[in-house]
Amino acid sequence: MPPLVPEHTDAHTWAVQRVKVEPSGPLEGRLRVGGAKNSVLKLMAATVMARGTHVLRNVPRITDVDCMVDLLGSMGLEVTWLDASTLSITRPDVITPEAPYELVERMRASIVVLGPLLAVEGRARVALPGGDDFGPRPIDMHVSALEDLGGRFTTSHGFVEAAAPDGLVGTRLLLEFPSVGATENAMMAGVLASGTTTIDNAAREPEIADLAAFLNAMGAVVHGAGTPTITIEGVEELRPATHTVVPDRIEAATYLAAVGVAGGAVTLEGARADHMEMLLAKVVDMGMEVEADDGGLRVCSATRLRAVDVATLPYPGVATDYKPLVVAMLTTAEGVGIVTENLFAGRFRYVDELVRMGADIRTEGHHAVVRGRPRLSGAPVRAPDIRAGAALVVAALGADGATVVAGADHIARGYEDFVAKLAGIGVEVTVLD
Ligand code: EPU
Repeated sequence: MPPLVPEHTDAHTWAVQRVKVEPSGPLEGRLRVGGAKNSVLKLMAATVMARGTHVLRNVPRITDVDCMVDLLGSMGLEVTWLDASTLSITRPDVITPEAPYELVERMRASIVVLGPLLAVEGRARVALPGGDDFGPRPIDMHVSALEDLGGRFTTSHGFVEAAAPDGLVGTRLLLEFPSVGATENAMMAGVLASGTTTIDNAAREPEIADLAAFLNAMGAVVHGAGTPTITIEGVEELRPATHTVVPDRIEAATYLAAVGVAGGAVTLEGARADHMEMLLAKVVDMGMEVEADDGGLRVCSATRLRAVDVATLPYPGVATDYKPLVVAMLTTAEGVGIVTENLFAGRFRYVDELVRMGADIRTEGHHAVVRGRPRLSGAPVRAPDIRAGAALVVAALGADGATVVAGADHIARGYEDFVAKLAGIGVEVTVLD
């Protein structure tokens, strides 16, 4: 079975590919969960802050990583794959502190270079990210935190330009909302600011703690990452470091959801139960069995799932990224589940695709009411974003007949070897031209 990105690196050759999924199950076997997309992109951004060669291990081969490789390359860093999951990143003395529009447009997470560039170069020019399928994606909290640290901002011609010629100065930052990206930009900037920076109401995601661990390995002094208050003692200079990326909890949840819909018993090697506690409690309420197993998670589903209500919240709540997967599970569960989205206003757009597959879902503002049906009905559908694309594949496991998911390039942004991993646990899935 070919992997979803056959040669791993070229996003464009398979951008029009579709994935065909047949009803499958029960699923069985083992698969390895890769490094977290939402950590590695930030770790890569952090490398601009220290001259020399960094090494990142457990890096997923996904197209968002390719995009960050291109972005670092455009700034003058040299990025090479040492093996299938290890990146070497060499930061030279002189770089161009700029993120061009073509790359920011491809990947909004590019905005995370803003803080590191401002801190180390005293200036940065980054294209403004637009909205996306989730709705508007503002960066006001990123800018406000960096302004409080002494950055001066102007916006023109679609770029945000930042300057801090005399360096940043540590202070107390109070985030209006625990934004993941704003916390990361502020934390990276604070590392090279003079004095102490405190970030209150900080995001607590495991990927924030992973970034702090990398920064500390680079010589930074960051305490409290993973709690609502992060304290940073500024240092004058950082050094290159080697780091292993934390496992991807959203990828793990995707295969867990597949087992939930299709039934069976699968071991997710490397998955961290302690990073997924709220979601695991929900799926146990739905009737799944979950146990820690040999450095991973064993997930089992023997009966039709039961509906539950779920509301997304910042970590440690149920992540918004899990939501399309939970909705997919509810479409064939017994009973009615109400799903409430509290982070991204527009994150229900894939619901229309599930309805085309026969799902009974009604959305009202940021709520979705999902009435479970015994089976869906396979249909051609289109993936609007990474997680929704994965969720459509999961839903297809509980449908009669084949489902063809177009826009599979979205899935490859965040999932390494998606088709091969699914096929390895018994899903009947193929890549179409
Ligand atoms: N927000 C603002 N102003 C800001 C920043 C954020 O209003 O300056 C709002 C957002 O519009 C949103 C909320 O705050 O309503 C949360 O956004 P957050 O900044 O926390 O999200 P992010 O950093 O842009 C990351 C992940 C997302 C994930 C969210 C929430 C990365 C690359 N992306 O985005 O992951 O959904 O946190 O957990 O880390 C994905 O992987 O598919 C994905 C979209």
